[in-house]
Amino acid sequence: MPQRTMTWQMDIASDESVWNQTHDIHPILNPLDDTSVRRVLERTRLGPAPRVLDVGCGLGGWVFKILESYPEATCVGVDMVESFIERARAEAADRGVGDRTDFRTGDALKDLPDERFDLVVCAGLSEAFGGLEPMLHHLRPYLKNDGRMIIGQGLWNHEPDEECLRILDVDRDTHMPFEQAVDMIACAGWAPVYGHKSTEQEWDDFIWACVEGLTRWALDDLRGAGEQQVPGVSTPGILLTMSSYRRAWLHGYRSALGYATFVLRPLPPQWIPLLFAGELAQQTWSAQGQASHEDS
Ligand SMILES: C[S@@+](CC[C@H](N)C(=O)[O-])C[C@H]1O[C@@H](n2cnc3c(N)ncnc32)[C@H](O)[C@@H]1O
Repeated sequence: MPQRTMTWQMDIASDESVWNQTHDIHPILNPLDDTSVRRVLERTRLGPAPRVLDVGCGLGGWVFKILESYPEATCVGVDMVESFIERARAEAADRGVGDRTDFRTGDALKDLPDERFDLVVCAGLSEAFGGLEPMLHHLRPYLKNDGRMIIGQGLWNHEPDEECLRILDVDRDTHMPFEQAVDMIACAGWAPVYGHKSTEQEWDDFIWACVEGLTRWALDDLRGAGEQQVPGVSTPGILLTMSSYRRAWLHGYRSALGYATFVLRPLPPQWIPLLFAGELAQQTWSAQGQASHEDS
């Protein structure tokens, strides 16, 4: 989730190398546990045999949960990282769902299939689109009018301090608070029907999975394979990466960075201007009410 946390450190410290080690511990590459994923999926209330697109599918964590919740679903997963797609395909074969999944390497901005889906999932990559609103705009053509969208989005639990921004290498306006994200989604022509804010336990479980995966890679897999067989990667190097990953979380962003998952329904285009005006008016009234409350 904290996508640029490690870039100032060393080559192996990319999200790809970290997340590739978590595939059997925490296949959802975001701070979301199984119960939360199931609850979010229950709120999609799709019909039988839905067609699903997962944009930025990572290791396929959401896809496999969707296939469990909807046993007749078929899913296309797209991610720009080839090694994630290879793992997702291998896992699909292991689970016997290769014929219900189509994992493809591609760029979310230009390689999405020319089809409208019952459910579009896009969790943890709004930055690739330039933010939440452009992401929703970009993905709308891939969703049927009566479809559902699941989005996952970083947010601020509270105002980040300078050290947190430096460690995450982001600007203050990269994220917003939960409430503001919901308002923004509503103004962008969507009906939010469910929202889940990740708990501190979900964050801890996710980051510990990354730390455990890196430690296992360094101490078991790499040493067992003989270090010289993996050019440029050494046990101490991975342990240092693991330590800076853990430190950035504990000393940098642990309390400030949040994550939310929303289920959305698209609104008919002809209603959007009216609803937008209504949303804006209500948000203005709430802001004025808040200001006068603070003044008194
Ligand atoms: C935080 S991970 C989340 C993965 C997955 N959605 C999940 O929740 O488990 C973000 C994913 O987006 C992918 N990604 C980022 N930019 C992308 C782009 N332009 N096109 C396709 N995938 C992209 C990354 O490779 C990574 O797998």
